[in-house]
Amino acid sequence: MNQPANLQTGISVLEITYVIASVLFISGLKMLSHPLTARRGNSFAAIGMGMAVIATILFHHKDGKPIGNVGLILFAIGIGSVIGWFIAKRVKMTAMPQLVSFFNGMGGAAAALISMIEFPHVSQDLIAKSGMANGHVLAILLGLMIGSISWAGSMIAFGKLDGRIGDMRIKAMKYVNLSLLALLVGFIVFIMTRHVQASSELTPLIYIMFAISVIYGILFVMPIGGADMPVVISLLNSFTGVAAAMGGFLYSNQAMLTGGILVGSAGTILTILMCRAMNRSLLNVIVGVFGGGAKTDTAVAGSIKEISISDAAILLSYSKKVVIVPGYGLAVAQAQHLCHELDKLLEEKGVEVKYAIHPVAGRMPGHMNVLLAEADVPYEQLIESDEINPDLPNTDVLIVIGANDVVNPAAEDDPSSPIYGMPIIKARDAKNIIVMKRGMGKGYAAIENMLFYNDKTRMLFGDAKSTLQNLVNEVKSL
Ligand code: TAP
Repeated sequence: MNQPANLQTGISVLEITYVIASVLFISGLKMLSHPLTARRGNSFAAIGMGMAVIATILFHHKDGKPIGNVGLILFAIGIGSVIGWFIAKRVKMTAMPQLVSFFNGMGGAAAALISMIEFPHVSQDLIAKSGMANGHVLAILLGLMIGSISWAGSMIAFGKLDGRIGDMRIKAMKYVNLSLLALLVGFIVFIMTRHVQASSELTPLIYIMFAISVIYGILFVMPIGGADMPVVISLLNSFTGVAAAMGGFLYSNQAMLTGGILVGSAGTILTILMCRAMNRSLLNVIVGVFGGGAKTDTAVAGSIKEISISDAAILLSYSKKVVIVPGYGLAVAQAQHLCHELDKLLEEKGVEVKYAIHPVAGRMPGHMNVLLAEADVPYEQLIESDEINPDLPNTDVLIVIGANDVVNPAAEDDPSSPIYGMPIIKARDAKNIIVMKRGMGKGYAAIENMLFYNDKTRMLFGDAKSTLQNLVNEVKSL
């Protein structure tokens, strides 16, 4: 007689924990939208997930019995946590997109495994007992398809970003991909219409579906250019969220459902925002050739003019307003601390220093915010490009540090350019422009940048870290 009472208490504690976990996910996600609260937001969401996992192990009951294989589950959690902690500790900031892609792939794989394991159970249990089994079978099939695509696609994205896999573009590929998608839909319809009569014979089809989904995931990501990889990762992230939500539906688990829906919708919104910031459609990202592949060189008019470190130091020290435009090269050089040192020195001399932040500067969303936050640059100094652009004509010196595409005037001037229409930081409007980069290397879009040939521009060649160190020394000595 005691069992149902205990069970009752267990279930209600579990449900309350899931609600608290969901609230922590939602508030954590909200906090991630601001650099000052992002770390706390990450901890909130992690605590929510930890609570949901512990509560499931302790309080979940099925047919009156507690969860089994606890030792194995804890062992798996232990291995996963140690590997995850080790990788995350060692990863360099510039390799963060790869890491996100890898972790996202693991989420997709987990969702696909759930589907493969649960299909025979659902066939045996649920169909016999309830007429609702169709919904569960659909959730399983969608979770399998989307999770497997996300896993395979994320692994390819990881390999590409890590330089292990090159692009592969064959024209017929999109037809092959469309055929594979049609085949997957065919499998879903077939299994859905047959499973009540012949559920056990259908189990092998699940493995065939898994294989087709994996091939589709690989072929879907293979042709996409390197510059578009963050967009693809964000899209795959949303896939993983949807696949996890399918698992939540299958298990009637609110925390899993909320978490999956949040990841799915946040990934979709981020994908749309990134496409907008690059002024491209999602279709163009997926089937268009951009970055690496686009080689549309413009005829260059004008010449490059250099500036010495001492002249640059004098120009900066006697300015009223300076704007720094950080880009991917600043992250590569890991020169964010020196950059902040320079801005503090200039501010001590009475110069107003702001940072112009482009939404897709660097290689991942919020890359520059994270980089500069690491160097303790006050958040108030970081101004979004749309907001700072009108102020640039009143800016005495604009320093471009390792940025290229995000200040490229071709986005406004050259309709044939692959970045035409992309909102940029209007660097050429400033009174003087100093560009720090190692040489005349191109940006990710692999196109010429006429800003470097502008009459107002002076180049300061060298690795951003050593150049900034020399500049800091020179400004100190003035
Ligand atoms: P990029 O256009 O990629 O240019 C970076 C520049 O940094 C290069 O021209 C390079 O020139 C220079 N550089 C590299 N290492 C350096 C070092 N150690 N010291 C000094 N300079 C160095 O960067 P961006 O302006 O930040 O633009 C980002 C690009 O990535 C855009 O095309 C954007 O659309 C794309 N993208 C970004 C995202 C996100 S979410 N951030 C997503 C998808 C695509 P040198 O070789 O001459 O030094």
